[in-house]
Amino acid sequence: MALKKWRVVVLASGRGSNFAAIAAAVQSGGLPNVELVSLICNRSKAGALGIARDLGLPVSIILGNKRLPDAYNDELLGELRRLKPDLICLAGYMKILPPSTVREFQGKILNIHPSLLPKYKGLQAQKQALEAGETKTGCTVHWVTEELDGGPMIEQDTIEILPGDTEESLSTRLRPVEHRTYIKALQKITAVGVPVRDRRPSSDIP
Ligand code: GRF
Repeated sequence: MALKKWRVVVLASGRGSNFAAIAAAVQSGGLPNVELVSLICNRSKAGALGIARDLGLPVSIILGNKRLPDAYNDELLGELRRLKPDLICLAGYMKILPPSTVREFQGKILNIHPSLLPKYKGLQAQKQALEAGETKTGCTVHWVTEELDGGPMIEQDTIEILPGDTEESLSTRLRPVEHRTYIKALQKITAVGVPVRDRRPSSDIP
């Protein structure tokens, strides 16, 4: 059966270091079955936008309006339907995906979270780990379901929490680990290309 590359769309809101790491892995041949097709961003000043522009990657900015959540949902869903992704990578996307989008793309959406899930879901995960007196933390790449940070795990890596660590020092040390974890998860999922259905009429097939 013919195989094609996985069409990957990244959604990011901020610095974009995970997005940059994925793009670098695609460029260097570390993700040979991945085609990065677009970045979707919900903040006009996100660092991720500059990274996409430097890569020459198409960008959609969907800012959303808190008073018009349906318009945001419709625009996001419309853009994703247009892009036809095989995988959607949330990489620091700070908006909860509309349930209708999660349902329509269930099984195709990944997220990275800076904790050893199922511990410390939600915001300020490193702060939560520090306050709980943990001696280790880490990051988790998981499938996205309608439960916040609750979908099945794909990859997880651990780092030590050192005496004197702060939320900031921990985040800084965790960042390169996150990049490796995200790439490992993508390598696992995209190890083989996506099967392409043969469009020839069956009479043509020997
Ligand atoms: C990462 O810590 C990730 O785990 C969390 O958001 C942050 C994004 O960082 N979901 P960056 O924008 O990829 O640098």
